[in-house]
Amino acid sequence: MTPRRAAPPAPGFPAWRGRRLRGTAALRRLVAQTSLAPSDLVLPLFVKEGIDEVCAVTSMPGIYQHTVDSLRKAANEAVESGVGGLLLFGIPSVKDGSGSQADADEGIVNRALRALRSDLGDSTVLIADLCLCEYTDHGHCGLLGSDEVVDNDATLVRYASVAAAQSEAGAHMIAPSGMMDGQVSAIRAALDSADRVDVAVLAYAVKYASAFYGPFRDAAEGAPQFGDRAGYQMDPANSDEALREVAQDLAEGADAIIVKPALPYLDIVSRVADAVHVPVAGYQVSGEYAMIEAAAERGWVDRDRAILETVTGIRRAGADIVITYWAAELARRLARLSP
Ligand code: PBG
Repeated sequence: MTPRRAAPPAPGFPAWRGRRLRGTAALRRLVAQTSLAPSDLVLPLFVKEGIDEVCAVTSMPGIYQHTVDSLRKAANEAVESGVGGLLLFGIPSVKDGSGSQADADEGIVNRALRALRSDLGDSTVLIADLCLCEYTDHGHCGLLGSDEVVDNDATLVRYASVAAAQSEAGAHMIAPSGMMDGQVSAIRAALDSADRVDVAVLAYAVKYASAFYGPFRDAAEGAPQFGDRAGYQMDPANSDEALREVAQDLAEGADAIIVKPALPYLDIVSRVADAVHVPVAGYQVSGEYAMIEAAAERGWVDRDRAILETVTGIRRAGADIVITYWAAELARRLARLSP
């Protein structure tokens, strides 16, 4: 009997069929190029001074301003879920012109860092966000000069002191987010002279002046009382400048870098990841979170799929790490999904 042969494809008929590798979940899993593990995720947490109970953040459903006690619980649960690290923001009850609570020994963020470090030791990576906007009465990220413009170089002196305090309190990494020029070298020098040579700098090298920080400013109570941050954060129209910021931060001693926000800037995540050989984190910011939560609440998008798809997209663009408010939830889900 003559063997049966498939007919040759008709002219113009596709020989390659993408669908062949998509037909079953097992096929898709075998050929997936982007992986997502709980340890790739970092959870931001807010701790507020002077409250007895957690406060819900209205514009970020599911996110809370914590007391030190509830923070400890949330941090512990997040670590149990397998997340790679925690990023801590403090909200003091008293704000002033110099943001003095940021480096006060008994300031909320330093008390919280000490508590978390004593609970968790080295079982996770404690990252302290370093900025003054949550601590100043005017809500800007640095000290104001007489012209009401942020004074870059005077602010560096404050950042150095805050970095020393946060590392003393137990942070494994310091993450400066104020976009002052020279902040990484000022912080590196302060850490070294405080004998904290092992504390790493995770630099927000690329941070755009973004509308998507809106809900965060409710959560961290750090909205500028006048003006905006366009004078120090990056212009959304620019991308080459991102590479200059990154090169500068690396030259100043940054150990890893952040691109922020993530979703509207995936091209930047991709360019930066191609250009450097240090870990790159994409920060899925508060507005990205709020958009999906709000749309999901109305039944307009499938929440769980949207979360997985956006975080995967940030990884696919080249981010090694994703900072996301869904970190703990997603980590738990990933653990359930993995065989
Ligand atoms: C502080 C800071 C901001 C965010 C992280 N650190 C806000 C801002 O610059 O206005 C935003 C995080 C988010 O929106 O989730 N400088």
